[in-house]
Amino acid sequence: MSDRTTRRRWRGPLALGFALGLGLVHLRKLLAQGASAVAGPWDQVLAAEHKVVMSLLDRAMDTPPQARLRRKLLLAKIEWGLSKHAYAEETVIYPALRALGGAGEKSLFDDHAEIKILLASLRDRPADHPDWIEDARALKALLETHMAEEEATVFPRLRSALPEAQNLRLTTLLNAQSIRLA
Ligand SMILES: [Fe+2]
Ligand SMILES: [Fe+2]
Repeated sequence: MSDRTTRRRWRGPLALGFALGLGLVHLRKLLAQGASAVAGPWDQVLAAEHKVVMSLLDRAMDTPPQARLRRKLLLAKIEWGLSKHAYAEETVIYPALRALGGAGEKSLFDDHAEIKILLASLRDRPADHPDWIEDARALKALLETHMAEEEATVFPRLRSALPEAQNLRLTTLLNAQSIRLA
């Protein structure tokens, strides 16, 4: 086989691989932006991310079992959005809570662990499995409780306890952590 024929033979697969690579990078950016394209103070950014994730989860739960790929894609968006969100909270917000005193952030960390377990269960199960929707309901219930606690109690407590300069610093740190994972 001549060098020319060999080059021609590999050109197609290489081009396809390159296009897929570009597509994945683009998809990753889109997923990242979908859950964090919000500007504002840290508590508003986090609350907006809650809404995005819950809306994606509602869409996944409204998707019929036979639309397995759609369920999987929505779940991938939810998982990516929640990973970034949890990372930002665990590295910026919860440490700030700890600095205030009390051990309130421990149960928030525990919730995050439980959320990750449910996400793994959903990811590992065939999307048309009858138990998929049960796991999704359990995830939704836990997210609702956790997010309501953060928005009604945790965030306001932290925001009001800190001077404005420190709240601004939290917003800067939160944005930096989000960009790091985008
Ligand atoms: Fe959280
Ligand atoms: Fe949160």
